[in-house]
Amino acid sequence: MSKSKLQNLHSPKGMHDILPQDQPWWDKIRQEIDYIADYYNFHRIDTVLMERAEIFEKSLGETSDIVEKEMFVLKSTSGDRFVLRPEGTAGIVRAYVQHGLSHLGQPLKLFYLGPMFRKEQPQAGRFRQFHQAGFEIMGGDSDAVYDAQVILAIFRLLENLKIKDISLHINSIGCRICRPNYRKKLIAYYRPLAAKLCRDCRNRLKQNPLRLLDCKNEDCQKFKSEAPIILDNLCVSCSRHLKHVLEFLEELDLSYVLDNQLVRGLDYYNKTVFEFFTNTVSEDGRKFDFALASGGRYDYLMELFGARTNAGVGGAVGLERLIEVMKAAKVNLSLRKKPGVFFIHIGELAKKRSLKLIESLRDEGVPVKESLGKDSLGAQLRSANKEGSDYTLIFGQKEAFEESIIIRDLKNGVQETVPLRKLVSEVKKRLK
Ligand code: HAM
Repeated sequence: MSKSKLQNLHSPKGMHDILPQDQPWWDKIRQEIDYIADYYNFHRIDTVLMERAEIFEKSLGETSDIVEKEMFVLKSTSGDRFVLRPEGTAGIVRAYVQHGLSHLGQPLKLFYLGPMFRKEQPQAGRFRQFHQAGFEIMGGDSDAVYDAQVILAIFRLLENLKIKDISLHINSIGCRICRPNYRKKLIAYYRPLAAKLCRDCRNRLKQNPLRLLDCKNEDCQKFKSEAPIILDNLCVSCSRHLKHVLEFLEELDLSYVLDNQLVRGLDYYNKTVFEFFTNTVSEDGRKFDFALASGGRYDYLMELFGARTNAGVGGAVGLERLIEVMKAAKVNLSLRKKPGVFFIHIGELAKKRSLKLIESLRDEGVPVKESLGKDSLGAQLRSANKEGSDYTLIFGQKEAFEESIIIRDLKNGVQETVPLRKLVSEVKKRLK
């Protein structure tokens, strides 16, 4: 292919490079996720980016939007079908069973952070490659305390990232015992309205009636208010479970909206489902009407993969969405600045000796920034300012001859010439 053919190529639709200027946002998020995971004792897991197609087809549901139209499917020459993972939970359950992680002690708390892929129509907060951080608790029965712990970890993460006005929506979608009965009632309510529903909802009525409550189409929305309510149809066990989750949240002073129309787009949930929203409004008046994080209980998913325990609950946060909201709210990143020095050379001889000198500092663990490719003093000083270094080391012709170097404090302009043999100790003293 000739060079000119590549000149105007961009990244694929809905997939974005993360450029150096955005990295501080990602650093901040990663820092807080690690902090929360460590604090609440979640262990990191990284699963493969590509899974066998049936992992998602059988777990998310054949009629879920993801499986029906959003998976990036790859076929191997031998006919095997693989999928770029659209979400993290199914792959983690696969890994949990494959590697016998149930032996690690129960419940097992896992967290992950990485890219997911969905062939969606790109729009604000909706991409084809996006990142999730997820928290999963597997095993340990279906105790409601674990649902509350997942919700708490996500809430604290959002709070630490200074996301304001967080609202938690929660619901229970029942279990194998109570859901079929509710499903029947829902079908009985919607069937006479079928002609007035959008095409997707007419399909949902046949294949996945609970998703009727999830439709964003205005014409369909108006029927929701009269639809039967799942909370009135839960069995004793699901009612009790929901009550316990809510009690834990109340004890924690975590306010929530009991949202009886929250159903979620993935089929693997039972009992608890939840979503976090924010009421942040940007300076230019933009509101964010997407979920920042979502999750729920997935006991049947564990069973489907043949896990020795059939209890699992978790949730995942959409990181691009977090960054969008943090930027709109002008969150101050306040990343911990790494202390360090900036090395400046003046003249040929000094430049020649500079690499070795910098290496001697690095060997002693002193972080050094430089712009050795620039010979002008002004350009190097500008780089030092940009880096926000606290000190510059100035090494010129005279210093090279005298085996010395200047240490300049950039905050107050005070400078001192020190012998090269004392450089490391003098710098370390200052950086303390
Ligand atoms: P989900 O609701 O599909 O759930 O995705 C979780 C979060 O990922 C959403 O709340 C949203 O913030 C973000 N997200 C989803 N799709 C996109 C997209 N196209 N572009 C940008 N962000 C997006 C799950 O994936 C479940 N695995 C969550 C879970 C974990 N349930 C139990 N454990």
